[in-house]
Amino acid sequence: MAEELKIDPSLDRASAYRLLLPQVAALIENEPSWIANLANTAAAIKSTFDFLWVGFYQVMGDSLVLGPFQGPIACTRIRKGEGVCGQAWAERKTLCVPDVDQFPGHIACSSESRSEIVVPLLYQDRVIAVLDIDSTQLSDFSEIDQAYLEQLVMKLCQQYVD
Ligand code: SME
Repeated sequence: MAEELKIDPSLDRASAYRLLLPQVAALIENEPSWIANLANTAAAIKSTFDFLWVGFYQVMGDSLVLGPFQGPIACTRIRKGEGVCGQAWAERKTLCVPDVDQFPGHIACSSESRSEIVVPLLYQDRVIAVLDIDSTQLSDFSEIDQAYLEQLVMKLCQQYVD
């Protein structure tokens, strides 16, 4: 495919996700490199929605380690249970945080972040990574983001090779 996304910026979020998902699927389907696929997925989400920060942390031992991302520099290691990312890992479920200042233990990589969603990536029933997205807007994420992002990471995980 042409290395260019085709998504009208005036679309509502659900419509944009509906166009984004098949384009990301096409982008990653013949690429065996896990890192390349994480990198392009982060770039595709960032350029579609212009969120503050979009990226992945990979599980390495007892920590999450910074992986491919788009946005300002970020903390490199997060322990299990720490912050929104570490808690999503520990609980093995998506966490949607409408106001990061109200989340106990939130790790502020950027003072501009106001809301956040973290989606775990599962392979053979274990968390291998998390997708983390930060927004400068309060309450920017809803069940719509959760539903589409969970579909998106499921697609990525189908490409994962241990
Ligand atoms: N806010 C996250 C840390 C990662 S940065 O947002 C990129 C957390 O509380 O886990």
